[in-house]
Amino acid sequence: MLVSSIPKTDNRFFVFEGVNGSGKSSLIDRLNREIPNSIKTREPGGTPLGEKLRQILQVDKEPISSLTELFLFQADRAHHVDFIKTELKKGKTVFCDRYFYSSIAFQGAGRGLMDVEELSMKAIQGLLPACVFLLDLDPVEGLKRREGLSEIDRFEGEQLEFHKRVRAEFLRLAKTRPEPFILIDATKSREEIFNSVYRIIGSC
Ligand code: TYD
Repeated sequence: MLVSSIPKTDNRFFVFEGVNGSGKSSLIDRLNREIPNSIKTREPGGTPLGEKLRQILQVDKEPISSLTELFLFQADRAHHVDFIKTELKKGKTVFCDRYFYSSIAFQGAGRGLMDVEELSMKAIQGLLPACVFLLDLDPVEGLKRREGLSEIDRFEGEQLEFHKRVRAEFLRLAKTRPEPFILIDATKSREEIFNSVYRIIGSC
């Protein structure tokens, strides 16, 4: 695990990113159970409107263009950010499963759309996380972990090359974005990953 030093912030907003199957969701569930006064949320989703958009994006089979997909994710995000800001004002620690980094990786690098970062900056309305935990994993392994699931979403069905571009883009973002990134080797045991993340969050 590569731990860059995290500056103390007044913001308790933590984002988790990674390729499909990298283990974010179970990690977030446990952090939320063990860290008092915390909530977990996700993109797409996190609000009643967001869950409807998630249904359209993840479950509905109607084909949509890459551009439509991008705007649906950004609409979800613009709405979700208001919710996160309200929770932070209440003093909550917020754990968020994916944020705009996913749009840059999936719609930008994956689908090949331009200007995703600029559009994302509009959607987030200034809300940057205290840090991003990037669970890095070879997508071959990530997709293997998802094998046997009855439903695959519109991304899990993509070619391996798509997922490789997504992973490479997350790693590029970790090096170039101004927010602190914590790079985590997602092949480590769940316990090991949980303990490291727990310790880092505790020290923020
Ligand atoms: P989810 O079931 O949460 O997948 P995972 O458990 O891998 O996080 O579904 C979210 C999917 O949506 C995931 O495949 C990544 C994709 N996505 C984008 O393409 N762009 C985005 O901006 C976001 C937030 C997610």
